[in-house]
Amino acid sequence: MKGLMTLVVIGVLALANAHAGEYAREAAASRAVTKEFMQALKTELGQGMRDGGPVNAISVCNLTAPGIANTYSARKGWDVGRTSLKVRNPDNAPDAWELSVLESFEKRKQSGEDPGTMEHYEVVEVDGEDVFRYMKAIPTQEICLVCHGTRIDSTVTTRLEKLYPDDQARGFREGDIRGAFTITRPLSSDRD
Ligand code: HEC
Repeated sequence: MKGLMTLVVIGVLALANAHAGEYAREAAASRAVTKEFMQALKTELGQGMRDGGPVNAISVCNLTAPGIANTYSARKGWDVGRTSLKVRNPDNAPDAWELSVLESFEKRKQSGEDPGTMEHYEVVEVDGEDVFRYMKAIPTQEICLVCHGTRIDSTVTTRLEKLYPDDQARGFREGDIRGAFTITRPLSSDRD
């Protein structure tokens, strides 16, 4: 009996590993996109702040981020975006799957895991079709505090309140999970 149990356990572990390996390619491609996205965003933010201060840079996050996301979506036929448990733009609100992943990220952080490398992916059925879904946590960095922190300049607050009357994305501290990149793609598409 004990032997049988061991076999079952080994079988389940082997299945889990095979599963992880099976989608490693999709995960790697998604990871690469989130890395590019983050770098592009940080470059644009830095540039925007240097050019005209944080109020000017608001339009970077406001316009450029969705723009970058759309570029990837068009180029690859993927759905690429950002979401959070506390959104600034209600358009970025998580769906049920994203919400549960964001909550699991918070739990993983509480157990000591580094948000900088935190990701989750799986194949889920959407409208009868298998799709690959990927999320990567976005840690709050120092530069983010200007617009997402606890002490935000009043000129910035005024502009934010005008653009986002329901803004929840303030009060973050360095190292907090600000949100996550989220990608949904057909399993078959690989226009890398
Ligand atoms: C100059 C102000 C500014 C800075 C600096 C800034 N953001 Fe934002 N952030 C915004 C605005 C404005 C939005 C809303 C964008 C939109 O309308 O989609 C936003 C939205 C987001 C979202 C999408 C979810 C949501 O809340 O709607 C994430 C994730 C995010 N920011 C992360 C970051 C991170 C990480 C940094 C630092 C690397 C950062 N932001 C720096 C202004 C800023």
